[in-house]
Amino acid sequence: MKTRITLFVALFAIAYGVSAQSSGFKELDEWVGTWKQTTQRFFGYPVNEDSKLHGFYEWYLASGMDLVNLNNAGDPMTDEPSPYSSHYFEREVIEFFAPLYGFQKDNVWGIVTHSGTDGNSHGIYFGAKYLYNKTRKMPVVYVSDEAHYSNMRLCDLQNLDIRLVKSDDMGRMIPEELEKALDTSRPVLMVYAMGSTFKGAIDDMAALNAVLDKHPEMEVYRHVDAALFGGYLPFTVHKAMVSHEKMRFNSIAISGHKFFGIDCPSGLFLCTRDTYDNQNSFNVTYLNGNMRMINCSRDAVQPLKFWWLIQTVGYDKWSKQATQMMECTSYLKKQLDKIKYPCWVNEYSNTVFFKRPSPDLVQKYNLAQGYDERFGGDLAHIVVMQHVTKEKIDVFISDLKKSLK
Ligand SMILES: Cc1ncc(COP(=O)(O)O)c(C=O)c1O
Repeated sequence: MKTRITLFVALFAIAYGVSAQSSGFKELDEWVGTWKQTTQRFFGYPVNEDSKLHGFYEWYLASGMDLVNLNNAGDPMTDEPSPYSSHYFEREVIEFFAPLYGFQKDNVWGIVTHSGTDGNSHGIYFGAKYLYNKTRKMPVVYVSDEAHYSNMRLCDLQNLDIRLVKSDDMGRMIPEELEKALDTSRPVLMVYAMGSTFKGAIDDMAALNAVLDKHPEMEVYRHVDAALFGGYLPFTVHKAMVSHEKMRFNSIAISGHKFFGIDCPSGLFLCTRDTYDNQNSFNVTYLNGNMRMINCSRDAVQPLKFWWLIQTVGYDKWSKQATQMMECTSYLKKQLDKIKYPCWVNEYSNTVFFKRPSPDLVQKYNLAQGYDERFGGDLAHIVVMQHVTKEKIDVFISDLKKSLK
């Protein structure tokens, strides 16, 4: 068994150009072998398995940074970032992404977060405080019933009133339902889903904003949960959809471990200066600053990885990857249509959902599962990320056809 695993790890290493060094611990080596076997068939979850951070790790070890206890406690957007952190690089990351999400350089505040959920946490917390500080009233949060559960959890955690607004069959919040649900006597904290988790639905911000515009007496804060789609949309012709300038949102959260391919949970949170200026401030003398963010200690390595990827991948390659993902998504849909397999995809989405295939296929391709009676009950989906190429889709379709015989 041990020889087989060692052989497998060695073959994997040759194929993928990584050194398969034994850890000296049997359990760890076996775990690595099992894991590596599945990554390229990881179809059901929004992770980029083609990310290249090898050079980063080589530099990190060679420079001796692995011996330094790094911490990004404090605000990276101040004029004098602490040299004993990676604030300088974190700030450059935020400044690189700001125009991609339609923020002017002088009207943005942001951090590299610990995850999309951490970004939503800041969006909902900042939104509630912003609205309270402007109106002295607590808001009602409106979110679609297809939105990621983190939004419901965070409202629960922050003791906020939440109204789940009905979505249509494809998962988009229904503007008429928002209108019916509105409490016009209180401020509005909108959480827009920019890619719902299972169906990949995008709330139609223009139509929903039009509903809100009918009530100019209400103070409104808009947060966008763009965990996955906020990664690739800025690199497509649909970039206006994730633009603060065009869509008038106050804040946006994106995951770093999805499209961008950071290998640990991480993310981006960006908001307007007006949002930042209307928060409760806590003066923290030992950090020489006025803290807005929720966490004290913050990861200093993920901002460095983001910065590294900006230099080594950057705008052009991310644009190519986004185009490839969109092409492969329509290719997958077409191949499923060709064999008359029931499947659906939302506009702008890289998530194709379909009738759930056999448990063997679900397991082999790590398909995420869902259920919706309107689409016949049991469902599964494939999230077409960078490693889900046409060649791999062909193999999946061939496996699917075999399983139907
Ligand atoms: C729409 C949406 N929002 C938020 C999240 C949570 O993001 P994270 O895993 O980065 O915390 C997810 C996760 O898949 C998601 O799909």
